[in-house]
Amino acid sequence: MSSTPLAPAAAGTLAVEAARRRTFAIISHPDAGKTTLTEKLLLYAGALGGAEAGAVKARAGRRDSTSDWMELERTRGISVSSTVLRFEHEGHVFNLLDTPGHKDFSEDTLRVLSAVDAAVMLIDAAKGVEPQTLRLFEVARARRIPLLTFVNKYDRPGMEPLEVLDHLATTLELEAVPLNWPVGLPGAFQGVIDRESGLFHRFTRTAGGARVAPEQILRAGDADDDPEWARAREELELLDAVADDFDPDAFRDGSATALFFGSAVSNFGVGPLLSALVRLAPAPSPRREVDAAGEPNGARELDAPFAGLVFKVQANMDPRHRDRIAFVRVCSGRFERGMRVVNGRTGRTLAMAHAHEVFGRERALMEEAFPGDVVGVVGAQDLRVGDTLYLDVPARFPAIPSLAPEFFVFVRNRDSARYKQFRRGLEQLDEEGVVHVLRREAAGDPVPVLAGVGRLQFEVAVNRMENEFGARVGLDEAPWTVARRTEPGDVPTIREATGAEVLVRADGTQLAVFRSEFVLQRLERDHPELTLDRLLTR
Ligand code: G4P
Repeated sequence: MSSTPLAPAAAGTLAVEAARRRTFAIISHPDAGKTTLTEKLLLYAGALGGAEAGAVKARAGRRDSTSDWMELERTRGISVSSTVLRFEHEGHVFNLLDTPGHKDFSEDTLRVLSAVDAAVMLIDAAKGVEPQTLRLFEVARARRIPLLTFVNKYDRPGMEPLEVLDHLATTLELEAVPLNWPVGLPGAFQGVIDRESGLFHRFTRTAGGARVAPEQILRAGDADDDPEWARAREELELLDAVADDFDPDAFRDGSATALFFGSAVSNFGVGPLLSALVRLAPAPSPRREVDAAGEPNGARELDAPFAGLVFKVQANMDPRHRDRIAFVRVCSGRFERGMRVVNGRTGRTLAMAHAHEVFGRERALMEEAFPGDVVGVVGAQDLRVGDTLYLDVPARFPAIPSLAPEFFVFVRNRDSARYKQFRRGLEQLDEEGVVHVLRREAAGDPVPVLAGVGRLQFEVAVNRMENEFGARVGLDEAPWTVARRTEPGDVPTIREATGAEVLVRADGTQLAVFRSEFVLQRLERDHPELTLDRLLTR
């Protein structure tokens, strides 16, 4: 599988190019089938170039043997890095931004969700909404991301369709509007009825689901003698009578989700999901801007000069180069390789000479890109998550939120001769957003604190400190379990409380940390005037 650079936009205008982009992510709990669905979307889009489905996993295996600090991925069997998959289908360009499945890396997913225009929420038909799905769903809801829900593994026993609707309503308070309806009980899944056309798509299994499954399309009347088809139609009639129709506005603002049933492994329902992504997932739209104080300040029109948002920085994507890639979502204008752009945070100019399309770990030079696309800028040491890049007309986008840390450790330098490496390594990990690096005083405290939403973040940090920066570090448990962002004026009051402390990040963010939820609640009760925010920004 290789990446095919897009043909230059011959006569296509920017508006046309933007309108055919679909930039989305899949959110799910590990094991719900995200890898399988991703691969099947590629298969159905014709992007596997004749290869059979199964290649992505095979590739993943190969890839692991060539990485070094990615050792962690191999030993733990988890995906640490985000990748961007790009493929074309029916004249549309899809950018599928991958998200790490493990909860310890949910910060990365949060950043990815700031760069998409839609998301597919994938749930296992038997297990329903699982903890990681819930966490990511909450982020998607807060950002009002339009959501398509794919109920996977329908080839196995699981919830019946009406139960699924109920489950989503009770666990997520989310209205789910089915756009297709399964025929056959979970475990004896035959196909779906498309609600709009009323047509029955009867699926056929292919060996191992490696190839596109032939579909038989039946009209009402063609399958009347099939009891499962009759039963599905009855259920649908019932649903039509009691439930609301699909409301495109409610879908676009994330208050209702479009629901699909399927089985990624046997290819059932993948085609309808892909068509729905074409029809329903919104194309890029003007991006909201803020002023210097962070207050709303209009929006960047798509045809304004180039502007992009750095939503992820990944080091060591390719161990042979030990480099960093900053992923930039194009928000407006046309991006051209070699373009000189300004970094809004530093005011410095940057030549985008090393711009790549990143496909898994493979890269191809990217000559041009349009709103919705993701450009991987290689080797730009200066770029941080949240940076805005622009051409000619300054742009400022809202800060990317970050989750309040829940795990804290003191980090010690174990080799005093290498203090410089220790300091540099910590600085870089903080800038990249691998972990938060905090100190008691802004001026620098000999024992900094690492903070994150999961312990695996610390493992990544230690691993990189040793292998990349040559610093030997030791970790000691720190006593805090909960954190909130606060303001400088509130620091003295918080420090007076027993079990509370205030730590500072290099960018000046003040973080109040507490030994327990109880300490925090008591402080909130005694001092309701304090700023204690759950969301931070980068
Ligand atoms: P993830 O990326 O979300 O973690 O999930 P992944 O696609 O790796 O799928 C997790 C397991 O669920 C895999 O089984 C996969 O084959 C299975 N799976 C995915 N979609 C479906 C489906 O529609 N129906 C059924 N029955 N199973 C599905 P595994 O045993 O862990 O791996 P494998 O040996 O099958 O590859």
